[in-house]
Amino acid sequence: MKARKTLIAANWKMHKTVEEAVTFVKDLQERLPFREDRNVMIAPPFTALIAVRSAIRRNDIWLGAQNCHWEDKGPFTGEVSPLMLYDVGCQFAIIGHSERRHIFGETDEMVNRKVKAVLGKGLRPILCVGEKLEEREVGETFNVVSRQLKEGLKGVGRKEADRVVIAYEPVWAIGTGRTAKPYQAQEVHAFIRGMLSELYDNGLASSVQVLYGGSVKPDNVDELMAEPDIDGLLVGGASLEVDSFCRIVSYRV
Ligand code: 13P
Repeated sequence: MKARKTLIAANWKMHKTVEEAVTFVKDLQERLPFREDRNVMIAPPFTALIAVRSAIRRNDIWLGAQNCHWEDKGPFTGEVSPLMLYDVGCQFAIIGHSERRHIFGETDEMVNRKVKAVLGKGLRPILCVGEKLEEREVGETFNVVSRQLKEGLKGVGRKEADRVVIAYEPVWAIGTGRTAKPYQAQEVHAFIRGMLSELYDNGLASSVQVLYGGSVKPDNVDELMAEPDIDGLLVGGASLEVDSFCRIVSYRV
């Protein structure tokens, strides 16, 4: 049994129509055995949130959004607010995903505003951190992760920090088929836990779930989940098919 309850999160990115999303959820619920020690979160595109919410019939499957703005409302064409996510029944929001940071120019400051806004609405942020290949190659991994974590959590009090989930997603492993070796992921996860202990305290550091993301597949899930500080996964490509996602959620340790 893992020290913390496992969270396996599906980040569908810009995939699936409403019908495809609902079919997936129905199929998943039929096939996935209920397990005390693990929960699932599904983050469909915004357009499918309501339909997926209605299709979810199990209390071990949660709903999340892939991003949001930090304001509740206003002249922000194309944006969706934390209030709106709360309104449609989201329990989670992925914040600061590397695609948001590197394709859409999100800064640590924007990520921090989003984390606080999401917490303010009672949702749980999944704060994503992770270094680029060139940063890893020059030995900058810990500095980058440390900065993203510190800046992302700036002004987040001890009580609220309890509801934060961290996802370590090395940018070089996302969508590339190149997974971090389990020991490489473990090393950064342990570092993140150490930082949480510095920023808050040991109690918080030992309770916060730290997920790994980046080319997670059925054939590498068991070895990743065997690491003590990997408390779950944020899965992109392999979360799009029920077969592979079921296998991932059913990891064996
Ligand atoms: P892949 O699993 O497709 O590499 O994507 C990972 C990811 O970005 C999850 O948020």
